[in-house]
Amino acid sequence: MSATHPPAALLLDWYARQKRTLPWRREADPYCIWLSEVMLQQTTVAAVAPRYARFLARFPDVAALAAAQWEDVAAEWAGLGYYARARNLHAAARAVAAAGGFPRHAEGLRALPGIGAYTAAAIAAIAYGEPLVPADGNVERVAARLFALTEPLPGAKAELARLAQGFMAQPAAAAAPGDFAQALFDLGATICTPKNPTCALCPWMAGCAARQQGIAAELPRKAPKRARGLLHGTHFLLRDAMGRVGVRSRPASGLFGGMLELPGTPWRDSPWPEAEAMAHAPLAGVNWRRVEGEARHQLTHRDLVLQLYAGQVRVLPEHLAPLSAERDLPSAMRKLLRLGG
Ligand code: ADE
Repeated sequence: MSATHPPAALLLDWYARQKRTLPWRREADPYCIWLSEVMLQQTTVAAVAPRYARFLARFPDVAALAAAQWEDVAAEWAGLGYYARARNLHAAARAVAAAGGFPRHAEGLRALPGIGAYTAAAIAAIAYGEPLVPADGNVERVAARLFALTEPLPGAKAELARLAQGFMAQPAAAAAPGDFAQALFDLGATICTPKNPTCALCPWMAGCAARQQGIAAELPRKAPKRARGLLHGTHFLLRDAMGRVGVRSRPASGLFGGMLELPGTPWRDSPWPEAEAMAHAPLAGVNWRRVEGEARHQLTHRDLVLQLYAGQVRVLPEHLAPLSAERDLPSAMRKLLRLGG
């Protein structure tokens, strides 16, 4: 089993010398680790670092987050994308506060909203020293190469996670699961990169099967992706006499759930002809002006394509609230606001 696993100690020695200085690495507090892991799920380390600090300044512990209004959490998350993360974070904070503290093992963590196998293993390894190897994209890539696993993702996920977990059979890894996990993340992010891996600097070069076969850069293989579909919507930029923009909250579930938006049509596969879109205008009797161009925004599996109409009223209708700050909006809506000029 561990016959084909290279020594964990080589990676840990490399990490001790080369580890990245990241804000969440100063903490072993499960709240901080949880927050950093949720932010890092879909967002780059560079983008997360300042937002992590800002979030903690506003919601310093799980009790503060649990006590917060959803609107304040949504505003703090705005711009980070994948808003279900923020809803789950808020719901999980309330569950943790109600239970009197975080579950002390991965299994209990997994029962919280938004915490899957990866996040539970990451928190448990880093905050509690539980001997688990969280397999994110970095770890999957490292494992696919070390063991020259040519089966494509996503089918290969379970096998890659099993191979990564195999390191915990080594006492050096089991003695420092948090460092080991983060060492794997750093190796994947800085040396065992998706393109042009820097094998010459890799502490595991000698034990890497893909490197020996000359196929490191080709792994992991990926099953062909289906073509990206489009999702169309039309929105309305309504300003009052003071120039304030009217916004509303999206329904709590679904895309951008609970986030602020400019009022508009639902989103669907086909574009909205003007007459049909107008039935969703937030106010009748406004001289709506079509704004040239469109706002495009990438979702996980589709591209959102949004049209815009602009209009003016003296006073915003009651069902819209004035937007306080652009940064309270998700990026797709910021793009529309800018399109409106
Ligand atoms: N990606 C996911 N978790 C991470 C961590 N703790 N450090 C660096 N990159 C990560």
